[in-house]
Amino acid sequence: MRLHQALLALLPVVITLAAPSPALERQTRDVYIVHQVNRLTSDTAIEIWNQDGTEILGYSCSAELSSGAFQDSPITFDIDANRDGAGNLTIGAHTYAIHDDVNLSGGISCGRISSPGEIMIKCLVPLSGDLASAELAPLNKRDLASCFQKSFDLLQVMSSLEGGTEMTAASELQEFTAEHEVELGQDAIDIEGHNHTGTLAQRQGTRLCETSPRIHFTERVGNGNPHQNPRHVQLSEPMECPPNNGCEIGHSNARSYSVGWSAGISPFGWISGGFAVQETIETGNTHTCYGSPRDFFAIWKCQGQTAYTVRNAWRARPGCGTGSGISSSNFVIWSPNEQNRQGFYYCVYGRNYVRAIGDNWLDTTDAYPWGPLGP
Ligand SMILES: *[C@@H]1O[C@H](CO)[C@@H](O)[C@H](O)[C@H]1NC(C)=O
Ligand SMILES: *[C@@H]1O[C@H](CO)[C@@H](O)[C@H](O)[C@H]1NC(C)=O
Ligand SMILES: *[C@@H]1O[C@H](CO)[C@@H](O)[C@H](O)[C@H]1NC(C)=O
Repeated sequence: MRLHQALLALLPVVITLAAPSPALERQTRDVYIVHQVNRLTSDTAIEIWNQDGTEILGYSCSAELSSGAFQDSPITFDIDANRDGAGNLTIGAHTYAIHDDVNLSGGISCGRISSPGEIMIKCLVPLSGDLASAELAPLNKRDLASCFQKSFDLLQVMSSLEGGTEMTAASELQEFTAEHEVELGQDAIDIEGHNHTGTLAQRQGTRLCETSPRIHFTERVGNGNPHQNPRHVQLSEPMECPPNNGCEIGHSNARSYSVGWSAGISPFGWISGGFAVQETIETGNTHTCYGSPRDFFAIWKCQGQTAYTVRNAWRARPGCGTGSGISSSNFVIWSPNEQNRQGFYYCVYGRNYVRAIGDNWLDTTDAYPWGPLGP
């Protein structure tokens, strides 16, 4: 009896010894591997992030990372910039395709964004073998020199598409047609057609001085503290290339939207503030995005907009006395830049990044403190 119990108790141990732990054999560590390329300056970077996105574990200002823990298993990106960054990621002896489907890539899942100026690729990678158990100490971000001569625009775009930014629903948007321009965005505000310039005063004489003795207007505050705050709009339905062929999204698959000015509170009237901006503009749709087999992607537009600070104010109507005052606290007007300045098209790849046609968001970061003509 006792022996029997003892044997039973031993049994699992025997089994464990006979078959090495599958958990140990398949141990992996998930990291994000990010590749950034400035296509104009050829500046590049690779960064390895922990899964929380809180720490940088590896870093290189080139398309290859082969230092520290990655000496024996270098990380290399081979991409085709003319095909919007399609290509491969090699880690040691493994080469993966840059794709969002783990079954097609060979085990990694990647999103990517490609603009005429930049390419950014971000892959969730299960590191295995020595790299899974290697000591990957977080690097002090302050010690990392920037790999780029200018700021990297697609960084903010990618993190916004990952969910940090609330999108305006597609239903808030209207397709642009020549007869019917619709302001875009939930914060767009219509102004009532009041004419404050004084004809009525002349026609109605001094009676207007009793009913409406003030002229209301909106004015720039100081230099307006201009910033670039583009509006990003998805111009096409998501497209998936067939299993055995690449495909493309061009102007015939993409719409043009009208992007109108918007404001923090209702202004008495739209003003340009002296900047090269206009009340509304079309995004256009003249861009082509190239996809590899089974790529899931869409065209987006970054519509250049200038944010400037204004306030509502009043002054006495001519002939109705004197005086002037301020009617509101300071607020911001966002207006599209003339001639599409500072705008660009880009291509977004991967189910985690592509949204619905018409989805849009306003970038309100203060990263670009200048007017429509640039720094
Ligand atoms: C990626 O790998 C595939 C298969 O080996 C190859 O055909 C393709 O040319 C590679 N792409 C790049 C950009 O290196
Ligand atoms: C990958 O293939 C496996 C097995 O066929 C399947 O269960 C899984 O859903 C696939 N994953 C994706 C992302 O398609
Ligand atoms: C407002 O009144 C001024 C002065 O008479 C006139 O020149 C202007 O055309 C009017 N504007 C509108 C929008 O009616």
